[in-house]
Amino acid sequence: MDNRPIGFFDSGLGGLTCIPYLMRELPREKIIYFGDTARTPYGSKAIGTIRNFSREIADFLVKSDVKMIVIACNTVSATCMEDLQKRFPDIPIIGIIEPAAKKAAETCKTNSNLGIIGTKVTIGAHAYRDTISKYNSFLNIFEHPCPAFVPLIEEGIIDNEIMDLTIRYYMDSFVRDNKLDTVILGCTHYPLIKENITRLYPHLTVINPSSIVVSRIHHVLEDNDMLAEDSEFTNVFYASDLSENFLNMIDHIFADEEEDKKVKFLNFDFEKDNMK
Ligand code: DGL
Repeated sequence: MDNRPIGFFDSGLGGLTCIPYLMRELPREKIIYFGDTARTPYGSKAIGTIRNFSREIADFLVKSDVKMIVIACNTVSATCMEDLQKRFPDIPIIGIIEPAAKKAAETCKTNSNLGIIGTKVTIGAHAYRDTISKYNSFLNIFEHPCPAFVPLIEEGIIDNEIMDLTIRYYMDSFVRDNKLDTVILGCTHYPLIKENITRLYPHLTVINPSSIVVSRIHHVLEDNDMLAEDSEFTNVFYASDLSENFLNMIDHIFADEEEDKKVKFLNFDFEKDNMK
């Protein structure tokens, strides 16, 4: 048993899409979440920059005494996983890509045409393609970066024509030309536009890594005897820039949750909180 919180982080609000799944499957687990909203998006930045940002956030989470770190960001998982595991060899660090890639490899039919959408960095790193191919070499894998999705989602531009047009701009020919039957949402922001994608491409099976990572968290905690029992700790959610847009999006993500599961966010001050 280990009642310390689990640390989650993302470049912004995307990683929050894992949290309702975690709260439902493991309601006793406590959370410290960090969304680097002041520096989002990460997905078009240089890998060295992403590595520096991730190290800062992981250091902060470790100082906050988390028992596990979940990299709730595909961009960081694709590029900095090993670096963070080397930095903190004694803490389980879980990336979001491997569990979803494994699940896709196990569940897609032979000769499926599987599309992966994500940020430029995630797609450029080919992390999904390479991991899926390790488990199943009988799938046809296609990758496509969709860099404008994250800024629009962070702005709360979701249920409208601009988002639909942007989705069609990136995905129409990608889906059609490759005869896709399945798509992986390879960015934790994208579950927020899952409904748009299923409405525009109803024949696609959509794989959502934000829900899949939770069973991996469950297994690792169980195998290491680290599941929490009831404790007093209150979940803490930090954002490096607590804008009004961001708060509105929190309401959107947690709209279906019970009142007591809703979250309060704290502004994180880089200087004051001495992250470096
Ligand atoms: N939500 C993140 C991901 O899963 C990062 C998006 C970004 O900051 O570009 O890749």
